[in-house]
Amino acid sequence: MGQDEFKAQLKAEVGRHAARLLAPQLGAGAILGVGTGSTVNHFIEALAEFKGRFDGCVASSEASAQRLAAQGFRLHDLNHVDELPLYVDGADECNPRLQLVKGGGGALTREKILASVAKAFVCIADESKLVETLGAFPLPVEVIPMARSAVARRLVALGGEPVYREGFVTDNGNVILDVHGLALDAPCDMEDTINGMAGVVTQGLFAKRPADRLLLAGKSGIQELL
Ligand code: A5P
Repeated sequence: MGQDEFKAQLKAEVGRHAARLLAPQLGAGAILGVGTGSTVNHFIEALAEFKGRFDGCVASSEASAQRLAAQGFRLHDLNHVDELPLYVDGADECNPRLQLVKGGGGALTREKILASVAKAFVCIADESKLVETLGAFPLPVEVIPMARSAVARRLVALGGEPVYREGFVTDNGNVILDVHGLALDAPCDMEDTINGMAGVVTQGLFAKRPADRLLLAGKSGIQELL
């Protein structure tokens, strides 16, 4: 089996595991936050078995909303949701402190919002995503279109190499700069710095609000980091 095929298998395993572990813990009236990406797609598929055991979902992207709707889940607008007991999402990188880089799929802003509202944030990933120091994966930054060049210059001044994700528009109508080469050894400081740039909607570091639990699929099964 090739490396990519093995990773795909691990994503499917952790997606199924998370659905079986977490869905039965939701109460009948609970609303579940659902993230975006290929790992979450497996989670959504496995979640179908538990439909009717909880109220419904809020999705972090139009793509996930469509998948959930196709499985018959009731979708809620976050504005009409008082409490989100649980949010489940993948990551592009995670460290042992459960800080993450996200946004490879471009859904980072809505993901941030759901993670900030949720009582518990469970991240699901294959073990290749676990790193000691974040930063090998380029950091996605969502930017208001007119500020693209201005923000890019400021990111260069920080030591990064921003690359415009051409042909991609976020669900919020904005653009993404993928920033290579940033030193992310103090991720909370970097979050503040980039969030403070005019024109930035948000960036893909989840360090100030890390995951609460990380389910990682690997050769020897699923391990949990808390
Ligand atoms: C989506 O914007 C991202 O934050 C995803 O959570 C992340 O890219 C993980 O995706 P995969 O599960 O496809 O690796």
